[in-house]
Amino acid sequence: MCGIVGYVGARDCTEVLLNSLSKLEYRGYDSAGIAVLENDEIRTCKAQGRLANLEVKIKQAGGMSGHCGIGHTRWATHGEPSDINSHPHGNAIVSIVHNGIIENYKILKERLEKKGYTFISQTDTEIVAKLLDHYYNGDPIEAIRKTEAKIEGSYALGILFRDFPNTVYAMRNDSPLIVAKGDGEAFIASDVPAVLQYTKEYYLLESGEIAILKDGVPSFMTLDGEPIEKELLVANWDMESAEKGGYEHFMLKEIHEQPTAIKTTITPRIIDGMPNIEECGVTPEMLRDFSNIFVVACGTAMHAGLVGKYVIEKIARVSVTVDVASEFRYRSPIISPNDLVILVSQSGETADTRAALRLAKEQGAKTLAIVNVKGSSIAREADFVLYTHAGPEISVASTKAYMVQIAVFYLIAFELAYVKGKISEEECCRLTKELTNVPKFIDVILSQKDNCQYVASQLVNSENLLYIGRGLDYALSMEGSLKLKEISYIHSESYAAGELKHGTISLVTEHMPVIAVVTQRDLFDKTISNVKEVKARHAKTFIVTHQYINIDNDVADYKIGIPTIDDLLMPMLAVVPLQLIAYYTSVLRGNDVDKPRNLAKSVTVE
Ligand code: AGP
Repeated sequence: MCGIVGYVGARDCTEVLLNSLSKLEYRGYDSAGIAVLENDEIRTCKAQGRLANLEVKIKQAGGMSGHCGIGHTRWATHGEPSDINSHPHGNAIVSIVHNGIIENYKILKERLEKKGYTFISQTDTEIVAKLLDHYYNGDPIEAIRKTEAKIEGSYALGILFRDFPNTVYAMRNDSPLIVAKGDGEAFIASDVPAVLQYTKEYYLLESGEIAILKDGVPSFMTLDGEPIEKELLVANWDMESAEKGGYEHFMLKEIHEQPTAIKTTITPRIIDGMPNIEECGVTPEMLRDFSNIFVVACGTAMHAGLVGKYVIEKIARVSVTVDVASEFRYRSPIISPNDLVILVSQSGETADTRAALRLAKEQGAKTLAIVNVKGSSIAREADFVLYTHAGPEISVASTKAYMVQIAVFYLIAFELAYVKGKISEEECCRLTKELTNVPKFIDVILSQKDNCQYVASQLVNSENLLYIGRGLDYALSMEGSLKLKEISYIHSESYAAGELKHGTISLVTEHMPVIAVVTQRDLFDKTISNVKEVKARHAKTFIVTHQYINIDNDVADYKIGIPTIDDLLMPMLAVVPLQLIAYYTSVLRGNDVDKPRNLAKSVTVE
């Protein structure tokens, strides 16, 4: 989704804005622009497409120099991607960049038109620029306050006023925004990686607060003008973790970071060999007493919830319902104060997941967030938070975040099963120990990537693909399928292996390769029978299973063998080849792996 940056300080502002925007590219965007205060004038440059296009345009315009400015990467919502619709929007007096959606923009536009304003873009953002201009009477705060009172929706805004040359203003409602502090310089940004190259110190701007970055010094006030003292936070991510570090793509780097991410996430939550999540405020007694568990999330995070469901239900015997966050409220879920609603989100900003969180709270349930980004909205709004310590995930296709989300679900499941008396202390220790063995087995899989490269070479020209599995393997195959389609653009579906014959098998021909995940040994024979059914219809079959299991050539065209651990934990290993197959297929198709078309990393609109 859109990315915002702003800078006030001694450095060349254009360079800082472009650098910082490049660190937000991962969020997904289709155009970019900056506005710089230069010799008491607001100069603006915008371009459709990648940042490189903007850089060319800036050069063609003779460069832009100054020490105060704002910048933006736009992910189109209102109006197509184009130079005109790109941000910043405004006029000679005021200029803004915006992330979010102004829901009442139509009515505001009509009113402004009646006052004589004309509009050149199709965006909701231009309405905010015109409102600020309308209310501006020499006092920026007054204009911001009056504008805020009129607009509805979610927004983070960076604002420049021509008459206040060394100052950037910012305001937010719902959409995230940080204010970072350097040595005599200050920044605004949608996300921490944008400023890591300059500083690690930052403040989280809250909804209804105004930030004023004057002469490189940030200060804060309420909309009523009351000064606010805010806590200065220090980012625990470093620059290297937000760089590719020699890998061709962030996605490949992040796949390789999974063993470390698991260790960092689980180690502090294992005490004397037993899982312990009490650090988040959920005591063993509380965990034991929840009646039902709901998991609500989107995309990959929702798939992590599906693995969590299988594992929790299997060993703790507690009912778990998994919902796609965007649908949660429409089915009027029956939640009671005795229930636990778990929200899973890498970014912690996903609008649908936030809306589900609010609904769960309204209904009195306890809410637990499994979130990667420290201080993000979901983390702050939930009753309890378990942070996944994956470090920044830059690639739009989520890999390491999924891995640590399921690692956290395993910890919850093991502790819950133990406190419910469903497994002994000895069994709980054994399972927890087995979880700590996962990283070394992932390293083994990562050393055999050529298997996955080969499979990718066999899939690259396919138009359709099926993933099948049963039980945990089915939950996992959904993630494999999503990964492939989002970055390779090959249409793929995941099917419960036993369900194929109830309709979908009619699609199976020699042109429909099938990837079967077969790691659950109690389901092995049944799933293999389903593989034989598609093989009999001439599908090319690829099987991900235990290394030691032999599969006949007349069943599998190719087998990817992975090490063996407890079947319950096999998804943590089996997902790695699925991630790599998606990655290499995307590379072979010449796609932009880290920034797939139409997608955004952090989806802050519903
Ligand atoms: C994953 O590869 C996707 N790009 C996407 O499904 C993502 O997992 C989803 O949008 C949820 O994001 P979140 O974890 O930040 O809430």
